[in-house]
Amino acid sequence: MSVFRVGLLGHGTVGSAFARLLEEHAGRIERTTGLRPELSGVLTRSRGDSFPELLERSDLIVELIGGLDPAREYVLQALRTGRHVVTANKQLLSQHGEELWEAAREHDVQLRFEGAVAGVVPVIRVLQESLAGAVIDRVHGIVNGTTNFILTEMGRTGCAFADALAEAQRLGYAEADPTDDVTGRDAAAKMAILARLAFETPVHLDQVRYEGIERIQPDDLEYARELELGLKLIGTAERIDGDGLAVGVYPAFLYPGHPLASVNGPFNAVTIESEAITEVTMSGPGAGGPQTASAVLGDVISAMIPPASTPPALERLRIVSDVRSSFYLHLEVADEPGVLAQVSQVLALQDVSVKSVVQKGMRDQARLVMVVHPVLESRFAAAMDMIAGLPIMRAPPRAIRVIEEQFG
Ligand SMILES: NC(=O)c1ccc[n+]([C@@H]2O[C@H](COP(=O)([O-])OP(=O)(O)OC[C@H]3O[C@@H](n4cnc5c(N)ncnc54)[C@H](OP(=O)(O)O)[C@@H]3O)[C@@H](O)[C@H]2O)c1
Repeated sequence: MSVFRVGLLGHGTVGSAFARLLEEHAGRIERTTGLRPELSGVLTRSRGDSFPELLERSDLIVELIGGLDPAREYVLQALRTGRHVVTANKQLLSQHGEELWEAAREHDVQLRFEGAVAGVVPVIRVLQESLAGAVIDRVHGIVNGTTNFILTEMGRTGCAFADALAEAQRLGYAEADPTDDVTGRDAAAKMAILARLAFETPVHLDQVRYEGIERIQPDDLEYARELELGLKLIGTAERIDGDGLAVGVYPAFLYPGHPLASVNGPFNAVTIESEAITEVTMSGPGAGGPQTASAVLGDVISAMIPPASTPPALERLRIVSDVRSSFYLHLEVADEPGVLAQVSQVLALQDVSVKSVVQKGMRDQARLVMVVHPVLESRFAAAMDMIAGLPIMRAPPRAIRVIEEQFG
C-alpha cells in the first residue's frame, strides 16, 4: 500500500474538521487514487513537532493556521522543498500571493486554495479550469457570510446593526472580533484573489477599495423592501475601458432579478460575467469548519491525482426510477357540488396528501389547483389516471413537479 503523507498546520475550526474528514474518507480516496492519505503530523502553537520535522515526513502540507507569519514562511519552505500546499488563508494569498504562486511554479508543485474564497463554493476551480477559455468582463460576489447574515436579519426583523451582529455572534456566524468582516476587509481579500484569477493581473489587498456595513440603518433596508431591492455587501472586480481593472467591496442595492438578490443568510455566491458565456452563478455555504474542510480535502485529492483524469467508477449504486416528488396539479372540473370530495378520495386512495388547494373560476372555467406533499411518482401517476377517468373532469389533468427547499 502506498501512503500519501499529509502534514497539517493548525487544528482549530477548520483544521480539526479536516483531520476528521481525511480519516473518514481515506479508504474511498485510496480506491480512487491508488494512494492512501494519512496525517503525518499536526502542528499548532501548543503541540506537535517542529515544522522542519513535519515537513520532512510529508508529501503535502495543509496550512490552516491563518495570518501572515509564520504561515508565509511555512508555505514557502514547503513549496521550495517540493511539497504541494493546500491553504484556506485569504489574508496570506491577497498579500503575498505572487511570491507564493511564483515559488510553486518554480518548484513544479501545486498551491491550491479553494477554501480561501467562498468556502465550499468551487469558484477558484471554475475560474482556473472551466472558464480558462473565456475572457471575463466582471465578477460580482457575496463573499462574506457574516455580513450577508446581518443584512438579511436587519431586513427580516427591522432590527439595528448592533442587534443583528449580536445575533450572528450568538449563532456562531461572527467571530468575537468581527472587525474584518463588518468593515469589508475580509471580502476585500477574497475579491483580490478572485480578481487576480479572473483578470490574470496581480492584485494586492491594498489596491481593493472597501466599505463595510456598520453605517447601514434599519430604514435603508425598509426602503429596499418597498422598492423590492435587495441590499447586499457586494464585491466587484470589473474590466474598465479594455485595459483597466476596478476591484471594490461596498453595500449595494440589487434589482429583484439579479442572481445575487436571493442569496440570504450566511450563504455566499459569485457571479462571473463574460460575453462568451453570458453569466455563471455559484452559491453555497461560505464558511464553517466542515464546509471549508471539504473544500480543503477536495484540493488535497486534486493534488494527489494527475489533473483532468477521471478516476474509475468504483461505486455501483442502484439506479432508482421511482422517486418521491411534490406536484402541482391543475384540474379543469365541472362546477357542481362534491367535486373536491371526489378528487380528495382518489388522492387519499393512493396516499397522496394535499398541501394546498384553491378553487378558481365558475361554470366552464371552474378548476382546482393543488400542491401535494412529496409522494412516490408511481402512486401519483396512478392517482392521475384515476382522476382522468372521473366524469367530473372537463379536460385531462395537468401536473408539474415542485422542487422543494431541501437545505434551509
Ligand atoms: N473558520 C472558517 O469558517 C473559515 C472559512 C474559510 C477559511 N478559513 C481560513 O482557515 C484558516 C484557519 O481558520 P480557523 O477558523 O480554523 O482558525 P482557528 O480556529 O483560530 O485555528 C487556528 C489553528 O492554528 C494554530 N496556530 C495559530 N497560530 C499558529 C502558529 N504561529 N504556529 C502554529 N500553529 C498556529 C492554532 O493553534 P493553537 O490552538 O495552539 O493556538 C489553531 O490550532 C484561516 O486562514 C481562515 O481564514 C476559515
